[in-house]
This record gives sequence, structure tokens and C-alpha cells, in this order.
Amino acid sequence: MNLLVIGATGRTGSEIVAEASGRGHDVTGVATSSDTIEDVRVYPDDELPELLADADVAIDFTVPSASHEYAALAAEAGVPYVVGTTGFDEDGLDALRAASESTPVLKASNFARGVQALLRVVEAGAEALPDYDIELTETHHNGKRDAPSGTAKTLLDVIDSAREDALDRVHGREGEHEREDSEVGVHVRRAGNVRGEHEVLLADNDEVLTLTHRAESRRVFAAGAVDAAEWLLGREAGWYDFEDVL
Ligand SMILES: NC(=O)c1ccc[n+]([C@@H]2O[C@H](COP(=O)([O-])OP(=O)(O)OC[C@H]3O[C@@H](n4cnc5c(N)ncnc54)[C@H](OP(=O)(O)O)[C@@H]3O)[C@@H](O)[C@H]2O)c1
Repeated sequence: MNLLVIGATGRTGSEIVAEASGRGHDVTGVATSSDTIEDVRVYPDDELPELLADADVAIDFTVPSASHEYAALAAEAGVPYVVGTTGFDEDGLDALRAASESTPVLKASNFARGVQALLRVVEAGAEALPDYDIELTETHHNGKRDAPSGTAKTLLDVIDSAREDALDRVHGREGEHEREDSEVGVHVRRAGNVRGEHEVLLADNDEVLTLTHRAESRRVFAAGAVDAAEWLLGREAGWYDFEDVL
């Protein structure tokens, strides 16, 4: 298929270009500037409307402030849209949902299959241990802009839905503060080139259960995103997630 990778010069986008080219897709890249990645031509994003006219599916790994505008252009062109970008506010999410009324939109905060499994295991753990304290820690490379990560927010949503009592998200801790049972602590680290690490810790006074996922390479996100693009081709307009692909 003709695949448009938006954010093709980025850490993840360049892996997606390599993965999709390796699978035999015709790949075109888009970024804010022109470039060449893996012999694939990358065009500046002001050429997006013309490029979408020839695309079967677009994959977007950019920044939320640009991504929802790109999604609107894809919707206008009727091109299925895979969104890996994270950090959207409610307005950005509304814009993506509006795009999904006229084209299929698949959004996932994490395209690693292991993270999808982690979500199910965390849900089971939170349900099975209803009185245990829960703390979440995520670590990413020093170039990541949004915090906590999209995956951390998805994990917190899963924990929320598994617990009957509403949990208060406490971001970091400082000073004198007694831990309340209703808290879930959220801790964010940014350092080096860490691809992405998420740990959920459940504990009472006598035992500790830790559930951890670590991405060893960005290839795992690229493979998942290209799987999603292949799956999305030919679907009806609507809102999809990576779970649908799996
Ligand atoms: N869902 C997942 O599985 C998953 C996995 C990894 C990352 N992510 C998310 O994917 C997004 C990209 O991450 P990354 O680490 O690959 O980012 P990155 O290395 O900073 O790359 C960003 C890419 O977006 C392009 N871009 C387009 N419009 C832009 C704008 N207005 N401002 C800045 N850049 C723009 C950049 O082009 P230029 O280089 O020409 O500026 C570049 O190609 C982030 O939101 C990240 O959290 C999601």
C-alpha cells in the first residue's frame, strides 16, 4: 500500500519508515522539513494535502499541536489515520474524534504488544488486590515532551476502572504528607535514551507485586503501528484502538 508516515524524521517515525519499507510498502515521509530517511523522500508538512491524495493510510507520530490538524486533513481526504502521538488535551482528542466521523482513526498510546498484555494483567492485579496501595513509575528518554506518558495515563484509567473507590492521582511527593488509601502515586523520570519503561507496584504490609514493561527498542512501536495501518485499510469510518488489531 501507499503509506504516508507523518513525523518520518523522528525517533519513532524513522523506525516506522524502515519497518514499512522492509514489508514492501511504498512509503512517503512528512516532517516539518524535507529530508531522506532510508531512501524514502520526506516532504515538508505544507505539502500534506497533495500527498494525502495518493495515500492509502497515514501514520502520525508527531506532536499533539500539529497532529490534530493533520488528522483533519486526512479526514477531508478520506485517508485512514493511525495516531501514535501522545499528550493530547481534551480539545485535541475532540478534533481526532471529529476526524473519525469521516475516516477510520486508530489511536493507541502504546503500539507494543507487551503493553497491551500489561494493561490486562494490571487490571487483574488491581481487581484481585482491592486494598493494596498502588504506585506507578514511568521512565523515558530526555527528549520526551509530555508527562506522564500516554501509556501511564492509560494504565491509570485501567486501575481506576478496576477499583470501586475513586483514586486520587498524586504526581510525585514532597514535604510532609501522610499517604491516603485513596491515592495512586504517579512518578515520572526523564533520562538518556530510555525507550519506555512502565512499572505498576501493588503492595500491602506483607508483600509487593511489581508489573513491569520495558521497550528494548523503538522497533516494537514501529511494528505495531504498521500492523495497525495494514489492519485499518478498508475499514469503515470510526474510532478504533490497538486492541481491535490484536
Ligand atoms: N504510541 C506509541 O506507541 C508511541 C511510541 C513512541 C512515541 N510515541 C509518541 O510519538 C510522538 C513522537 O515521538 P518521537 O520521540 O518519535 O518524536 P521526535 O523524535 O521529536 O519526532 C517528531 C517528528 O514529528 C515531526 N513534526 C511534525 N510536525 C511537528 C511540529 N509542529 N513540531 C515538532 N515536530 C513536528 C518532526 O519533524 P522535524 O524533525 O522536521 O521537526 C519529527 O519528524 C510523541 O508524542 C511520543 O510520545 C508514541
